[in-house]
Amino acid sequence: MTQAARPDASRPAAARKAVVPVAGLGTRFLPATKAVPKELLPVVDKPALQYIVEEAVRAGLSELLMVTGRGKEAIAEHFDRQPELEAALEKKGDAARLSAVRHSSQLAQMHFVRQGDPQGLGHAVLQAASFVGDETFAVLLGDDLIDDRDRLLERMLDVQVGRGGSVVALLEVPRSEISKYGCASVEATSEDDVWSLTDLVEKPSADVAPSNLAVIGRYVLSPTIFDALRETGPGAGGEIQLTDGIRALIRRGEPVHGVVFRGRRYDTGDRLDYLKAIVRLAVERDDIGPDFRTWLDGFVAGGA
Ligand code: G1P
Repeated sequence: MTQAARPDASRPAAARKAVVPVAGLGTRFLPATKAVPKELLPVVDKPALQYIVEEAVRAGLSELLMVTGRGKEAIAEHFDRQPELEAALEKKGDAARLSAVRHSSQLAQMHFVRQGDPQGLGHAVLQAASFVGDETFAVLLGDDLIDDRDRLLERMLDVQVGRGGSVVALLEVPRSEISKYGCASVEATSEDDVWSLTDLVEKPSADVAPSNLAVIGRYVLSPTIFDALRETGPGAGGEIQLTDGIRALIRRGEPVHGVVFRGRRYDTGDRLDYLKAIVRLAVERDDIGPDFRTWLDGFVAGGA
């Protein structure tokens, strides 16, 4: 767990720390998540959370803080060395699996803090204050899996370097779905995938939502968010919302931009989307993809 990944030297100096809140209960996947953290559910043969960590590392964020909670100990185990398992694989001469097992422990410099009394996403991010210090940093939510061919986080980091302040990820959703998300009021900028935020509201009903632009789980935040969150009381659902903290930054006149994402994204916290993610990623795999696709074709045609 101590071997840091190397940030891409060609990137401008930007955020280098990432915060990944993983204290959520995962009730949508019960009973599977009764004893297993939802973040460790496999997408093909890799935990959903490992895709998120790999995305952060690829974007040059080599120091990660997981904000965890009760019952999530297996997450730290997954990203740690497993000497007995490694020795057994070495003895069997299973180089491929040995390398896969070691890979997850060598990805990044990883830190853990427990949220204690979980009071919402804003409260989870607040636990990262001393880890982050006075630097711009990223937040990645574990339920949003972004296809690794679609470089959302890199684009957000670039926009932050160019424009300063904070940057959120936006997705155009049908109005009927906006009440599941934070929703942005925006003004155009000179770039067609970048909006300037004038307001942000957590989970509005469709009839009062200011737009159909939903916030998805990637943020690049100014460290001023911590003061804003300290002053943020409970909001939607009685929780301290990250959305309300960012809204306070906008109201103080700090720049907050949104990058519109038009790539492939899966909500692995949703059962149907989780299955879609597995199918999409499995058919594209070199090893099992061809056989799986053949079976799937037959299944869809009613033959399997
Ligand atoms: C959280 C945020 C919400 C955001 C969403 C993205 O909600 O509070 O603003 O749109 O993540 O996935 P949650 O999904 O935790 O209810």
